[in-house]
Amino acid sequence: MKWKILFLCLTAILGCSKSEIMKTPAKIVIAHRGASGYLPEHTLEAKSMAHAMNVDFIEQDLVLSKDDVPIVIHDIYLDDVTNVSEIFPDKKRNDGRFYVIDFTFEELKTLQVSERFDPKSGVQVYPNRFPKGKGAFRLHSLQEEIELIQGLNRSTNKNIGIYPEIKAPKFHQKEGKKLTKIVLKILSDYGYTTKKDRCILQCFDAKELERIRKELHSELFLVQLIEFPEEAKNLEYFATFADGIGPWYRQILDKKVDEKWTFTTLVSDAHKLGLKVHPYTFRADQLNEFTSFEEMLEILLIEANVDGVFTDFPDLVVHFLNEKK
Ligand code: G3P
Ligand code: CA
Repeated sequence: MKWKILFLCLTAILGCSKSEIMKTPAKIVIAHRGASGYLPEHTLEAKSMAHAMNVDFIEQDLVLSKDDVPIVIHDIYLDDVTNVSEIFPDKKRNDGRFYVIDFTFEELKTLQVSERFDPKSGVQVYPNRFPKGKGAFRLHSLQEEIELIQGLNRSTNKNIGIYPEIKAPKFHQKEGKKLTKIVLKILSDYGYTTKKDRCILQCFDAKELERIRKELHSELFLVQLIEFPEEAKNLEYFATFADGIGPWYRQILDKKVDEKWTFTTLVSDAHKLGLKVHPYTFRADQLNEFTSFEEMLEILLIEANVDGVFTDFPDLVVHFLNEKK
């Protein structure tokens, strides 16, 4: 009875349904560019696979097309994940790169998406992943991905969230593009406006994330991405507009003492300010300082006590957390 009353109080305070509260896990699994360890990143196929793996959130990196459609792609460039250099050889800029922003959505749809490769050498970045150049993958818009995830949520009775990132806001501004406003409008059209909705909005550019909160008055859950260790000194400033931080995982590790990892104060400092911590990127085929993926998860997810992880191998993290329950 006591638990029932407590639950009803929580429901009233948080203003969300029973299923939303019960399904919110202590630590979240974010499918980084989809299940990108198994299928080419940011394809609808990789997103469907991640959905089937029961992740909590699926990530979308966003860049605008020439005709203002937010495209789900990691970079402002096309030449490291598509065959653009074969299809539109004349559309490269003076720096030798092909830019998403120079192509209409219709043109982008004609490109074949591939497993990531080095555009200079043509060599696949992660050699044991899906073979480069195989398959019939295509680029897609934010709207198309949201409709896929919301559709799968309905047909599988799940409530998996989205985790969009505003990419390169300064570049878009310089090109006269309003990426952020366009994205916020689409999110709102699809029902993502508050922290209760299953949407976390992220950005590396602190000024832009601050603008999203303070000028554009977004009430979404906001995560400030951190690229360089020295940015960690700005935590108090980030806490004035963000709900969480997304650091490179290495910024959490300090050094090994007697074969045991010690940690920086980043996670505890963030937690003191009420900020969640979602480090990137956990890759089972790029272990660096760890001897196994399990070890990486044990040290960072459990010992360092982060609140969630961006991973290319979401099934392995879901399995790890289920085993811990
Ligand atoms: O956005 C967090 C995570 O995705 C790491 O950044 O460079 O892969 O977009 P990036
Ligand atoms: Ca990202």
